[in-house]
Amino acid sequence: MTPPIDIPVGITTHSRLSEIDFNNLEFGKHTADHMLLAEYENGAWGQPRIVPFGEISLSPTSLVLHYAQTVFEGMKAFKMQDGNVSIFRVDKHYNRFLKSLERMCMPAIPENIFKEGLKKLVSIDKAWIPDTEGGALYLRPFMIATEQRLGVKVSDKYLFMIVSSPVGPYYAKPLNMKIETEYVRAAEGGTGYAKCGGNYGASFLPTQMARQQGFDQVLWTDAKEHKYLDEAGTMNVMFVMDGVLATPPLSTSILDGVTRDSILALAPEMGMKAEQRRITVEELETALSEGRVSEAFGAGTAAVVAPIQSISVNGKSYQLPSWNDDNFMIKVKNKLSDIRHGLVADTKIWNTVI
Ligand code: COI
Repeated sequence: MTPPIDIPVGITTHSRLSEIDFNNLEFGKHTADHMLLAEYENGAWGQPRIVPFGEISLSPTSLVLHYAQTVFEGMKAFKMQDGNVSIFRVDKHYNRFLKSLERMCMPAIPENIFKEGLKKLVSIDKAWIPDTEGGALYLRPFMIATEQRLGVKVSDKYLFMIVSSPVGPYYAKPLNMKIETEYVRAAEGGTGYAKCGGNYGASFLPTQMARQQGFDQVLWTDAKEHKYLDEAGTMNVMFVMDGVLATPPLSTSILDGVTRDSILALAPEMGMKAEQRRITVEELETALSEGRVSEAFGAGTAAVVAPIQSISVNGKSYQLPSWNDDNFMIKVKNKLSDIRHGLVADTKIWNTVI
């Protein structure tokens, strides 16, 4: 652990809090009053500071704008039952951020800037944490390359920031998914496991085409053969097949989702056998057609647990059975919520309580 760090704070004189309707939150539309910034130059990080949320100025030749050297995290802070505030799985998010930065040739952010910065920012903006069901303050740490240059090179300068946004659930309705067997999100050896901006930009066209066909999201398959399931781009995918929880194993083309990891950790103690294994499109289609898939859902920080109601395979749509509070996905979603809100013991020490 890096030593404690002093983070100066400039408090806003114009809070926007009273303008927010916490019962009608569009994901990521509103940002809380403050943000954290720290610059990297000459091989070292400068003084982090918290300032009122506002615009930043960038040169048009900042390398991030041309060659997409940018990496982010998505985390959540919750209002606990006892009035405290918790941030979920800070260590896991920090470690994943470091892995993404390494893949994109960007400098590591010191642990004290990331962790203490998050805690201080969340404590300053804690009034922005919704206490509606499924509500949280979504935290977005990110880093961008700021050196001014048009030559293709690794940047020498970076900006690290944390902004936050009060949110409700990402998906308001059950999802209709399309298995994508033409376009590719990520190939083995590529950047799929890194949370870099380019992965998301590259998924827009196929996702938009799927939306025009009436689907909500694309379920990506491997780049080589379109034979194996990968993930859904905004979330990992999980199935209860023949009574067993199954999800594709981590690889260089799949994001190491924190919600995925948490569900896999909770499954055994909830009496659910869990398998991380390769799942072919063919296996899933056969199981769907034989009624052996009792649940399908997405898992992600933003998506939380997002029930899937239909999956289209090569133009044929399969309906999933309806679900209720006894289904594993609902029980695990509730369990996660209870841990985060301090309603049950946090035996795995996932909460950073502020
Ligand atoms: C998240 O779940 O935090 C994500 O990053 C998905 C999406 C909002 C980009």
